Amino acid sequence: MITMAVKYPASDTPVIVAKDLKQVYKISRGFLHPADQLQAVSGVSFTVRSGKTLAVVGESGCGKSTLARMVSLIETPSEGELRLNGVDVIHASAAEHHALRRTVQMVFQNPYGSLNPRKKIGAILEAPLEINTPLTATERAEKARAMLALVGLRPEHYDRYPHMFSGGQRQRIAIARALMLNPSLIVADEPVSALDVSIQAQVLNLLADLQQELGLAYLFISHDLGVVRHIAHDVLVMYLGHAVEQGEKKTIFAQPLHPYTQALLASTPGIVGSGVVKRRIVLKGELPSPLNPPSGCVFSTRCPYVVARCHVERPLLRELGGRQVACHEAEQFIQPAAVQQ
Ligand SMILES: Nc1ncnc2c1ncn2[C@@H]1O[C@H](COP(=O)(O)OP(=O)(O)O)[C@@H](O)[C@H]1O
Ligand code: SF4
Ligand SMILES: [Mg+2]
Repeated sequence: MITMAVKYPASDTPVIVAKDLKQVYKISRGFLHPADQLQAVSGVSFTVRSGKTLAVVGESGCGKSTLARMVSLIETPSEGELRLNGVDVIHASAAEHHALRRTVQMVFQNPYGSLNPRKKIGAILEAPLEINTPLTATERAEKARAMLALVGLRPEHYDRYPHMFSGGQRQRIAIARALMLNPSLIVADEPVSALDVSIQAQVLNLLADLQQELGLAYLFISHDLGVVRHIAHDVLVMYLGHAVEQGEKKTIFAQPLHPYTQALLASTPGIVGSGVVKRRIVLKGELPSPLNPPSGCVFSTRCPYVVARCHVERPLLRELGGRQVACHEAEQFIQPAAVQQ
C-alpha cells in the first residue's frame, strides 16, 4: 500500500467544538444600583471541521462578535464548553492557552484599524513570528514574502505602508498576517462588509482558495446572507443571543424553517427560497433590548406567525427537516416536495 505524508489536518477533523456557550456582561447602573446582566450569547453549540466554514448570521447586536471573541480566546465564556483541536480551552493551563492562541486567528471588518500605520507590511507580517517562533530575520522575511504571494500581493508590497493599499488589498494583508503562525481556525468577523461588492467577491474567493489549500476551518461572521451563500458550508442563525436555526447551508437556503431566517432570506437581494416561504416576511419593529428579552420565544415580538404558546414557552432547538430549528410552529413551513429537489 502506498502511503503519503499528510501535510495538513485531514479534512473533517473537528477543529472547534462549542457546547452551550454563554456570555453574560454586567452593566453598571451606577453607585448603589445592582449591575444589570446582559446575556449577549445564551447557550450556543456548534462544531467547525477542518476545511469547512460555519457562517454565523443575524442582525447587529445578536451576539455574533461576542461569540467570535469567545472562540478566538479573547474572552472567557461565562458558561459552556469550548474545545479547540481537542483541548478544553476553558480549563487549559496558561501554557496550553498560550499555544492555543496561535492556532486561532482573527480577521476583522476594518483591516486599516488593525494594521499599524507606521509599520511596513513586511514588519507587520513578521511581528507574530518574532514573538512566537525561533525563526531568524532572514527566515521571517522569506515567510512574509511567500505569504504575500499566497494572498495575491506582489513582492514590492513588502516595503510599503498600509495607507498605500486599497481596502481589498488591506484585507489581503490582514489575512496574510492571520496565516503567519499556521493557524487551524480563522475567525472572520464581517471581513468583507466594508468592501465594494466587486471586491467582496475577490476576497471571498481568496478565502475559499486558502481554505482548500491549507485545510483551514472558518468561523465566518456576517449580517449578510448574500455573502454567506458564497462561502458557507454550514449556517447558524442568531437572534438576540440565541441560535434559532442551524444546519447545512443548502438545506437552510432551500427551505428556511424559522420565520426569522425566512425574513433574512426574503430581504437578501438575489436569493429566492425555492417557493418555500409562504409569504414574504418583512421584519417590523425594533430588535428588543437584550437587557429585557421577550418571555417565551425571543422572536415573538416581531414574528408574523406568533401564537399564544410563543409568549410563554421558549422553543428549544430541535431536529426538523434535516436541520435544527427553535420554533413551535416550524412544521407548517415544511414542503416535502421542496426537500426532495
Ligand atoms: N463588552 C461588552 N459589555 C457589555 N455589553 C456588551 C459588550 N459587548 C457586547 N455587548 C452587548 O452584547 C450584545 C451583542 O453584541 P455583539 O456581540 O457585538 O453583537 P453583533 O456582533 O451581532 O452586532 C449587544 O447588546 C451588545 O451591546
Ligand atoms: S416560536 Fe412562535 S414566535 Fe417564535 S418564531 Fe416560532 S411562531 Fe414565531
Ligand atoms: Mg459585530
